[in-house]
Amino acid sequence: MATAPTIRPPSVRQTRNLVNGEWCESHTGKSFDAINPATGESIAAVCDSDHHDIDSAVSAARRALEVGPWSRMSARDRGKLMFTLAELIEANAEELAGLEVLNNGKPVSEVMAADVPLVIETIRYYAGWADKLTGETIPVDDKMGQFLCYTRREPVGVCGQIIPWNFPMLMTAWKWGPALACGNTLVLKPAEQTPLTALRLGELASEAGFPPGVINIVNGFGETAGDALVKHADVDKIAFTGEYKTAQIIMANAAPTLKRLTFELGGKSPNVVFADADIEQAVNGAMTGIFFNQGEVCCAGSRLFVERGAHDDFVDAFKDRAQKRKLGDPFSPETEQGAQVSQEQFERIMGYINTGKQEGARCVTGGERFGDKGFFVKPTIFTGVKNDMRIAQEEIFGPVVTVLPFEDTTQVVEQANETMFGLAAAVWTRDISKALNFANTVRAGTVWVNCYNTFDPAAPFGGYKFSGHGRENGREALNAYSEVKTVWMNLD
Ligand code: NAI
Ligand code: MG
Repeated sequence: MATAPTIRPPSVRQTRNLVNGEWCESHTGKSFDAINPATGESIAAVCDSDHHDIDSAVSAARRALEVGPWSRMSARDRGKLMFTLAELIEANAEELAGLEVLNNGKPVSEVMAADVPLVIETIRYYAGWADKLTGETIPVDDKMGQFLCYTRREPVGVCGQIIPWNFPMLMTAWKWGPALACGNTLVLKPAEQTPLTALRLGELASEAGFPPGVINIVNGFGETAGDALVKHADVDKIAFTGEYKTAQIIMANAAPTLKRLTFELGGKSPNVVFADADIEQAVNGAMTGIFFNQGEVCCAGSRLFVERGAHDDFVDAFKDRAQKRKLGDPFSPETEQGAQVSQEQFERIMGYINTGKQEGARCVTGGERFGDKGFFVKPTIFTGVKNDMRIAQEEIFGPVVTVLPFEDTTQVVEQANETMFGLAAAVWTRDISKALNFANTVRAGTVWVNCYNTFDPAAPFGGYKFSGHGRENGREALNAYSEVKTVWMNLD
């Protein structure tokens, strides 16, 4: 990876809600602190919203959808606004990167190499779709008469978008891109831990010229602001990324108003290394698979399966690399791994590490805190793991990987699928048929062959089983943000 540029912590410009194009305090006037995970210190007080604020934002979004200039704007002009937003993000990339590092704890090297470029590309990719969303003419049977039958793609309406803290800026882009391309209006509820970059993106959207009410942002907690958005009768769809247990609550709360729902949830993704693989490449893949973004990745390769014959050598090389990983100040360009997002997440990870030890797994490296301030956890590898241990089944969402040996293809596919999740999977081998057999039989929304964590806004992403509903990115996401209207015209 190229050395990251020097980026300094920027000053925080915005901590309020964006409602109908205005920045406003919450109804209650209450606030909560955004924390710097590398120090545990407060960065800024962010306004804490409840159902009153959600009400105002949803009404603004409804007006913008039905009577605002947005509803009359041509698809091409919608696309142009999105291209302008992408340009503004690019022009302010270093400030946005600095805010993300400050508020999330991830290293600047990663933000500049992955988050920022993907955010820009996502908005551009969907900007390009805005004027290409066409319907079809349908060749209907003429027994009943002559008809012209065609379809139109229309926006779903007001979209509530609830996002997590692991990729705050990128999750905002994944949600805004397809929603705006399809002509929806939206209310975003950022994660309470990491609201700062979404708010800056809101400022840039206003600067780009998005009409008031198209993009609204309401800060606050899940149980208050998030809950009100989910239950609101005038919200047509909820797009949610986060924990599956939260998705279960959202699904139940959205039932009375029968909202459209898309979910991108967690994972326990199998990363499978056959003995014939390029082992050095596979070790690199295992490193990226689990330690990228401090392991706070929904598709993290947290279950590593290594073919028996290669197991011991692989573990030695992997352990060596993990021990050399540079942890520390996320603003230092050399840092490879920063801080976990919060005290809560830090404790959850340390709790799982203790569970692993109690379950009888062997912690070959890591297993403890790094440094004496902030929420850093050393890269942690467990061997001697059984597939039914809690550390092999539950999402840890930290830099903790379980290694299990396997004997043959049939056994490893079975074990890989022995999980409630199905977000991603990877396989490392030089044998094409082994790779394709695995890719075809594993129950996961993304399969990587001899690579890991590759992303592109054009490539659909989402999960089987408890990992989600629907797909984000690519053409697929557009289906989830549009309704199809069929029009029959009698020609007789
Ligand atoms: P969470 O699912 O509770 O939070 C995600 C978002 O949902 C936040 O914006 C939160 O405010 C909102 N939310 C929470 N409760 C809500 C409710 N009742 N109604 C509406 N919105 C609600 O995730 P949390 O608690 O931050 O993390 C817990 C675990 O979830 C993590 O340790 C990790 O295992 C998993 N997780 C998975 C993510 C993924 O990308 N798949 C992202 C974040 C967390
Ligand atoms: Mg939660």
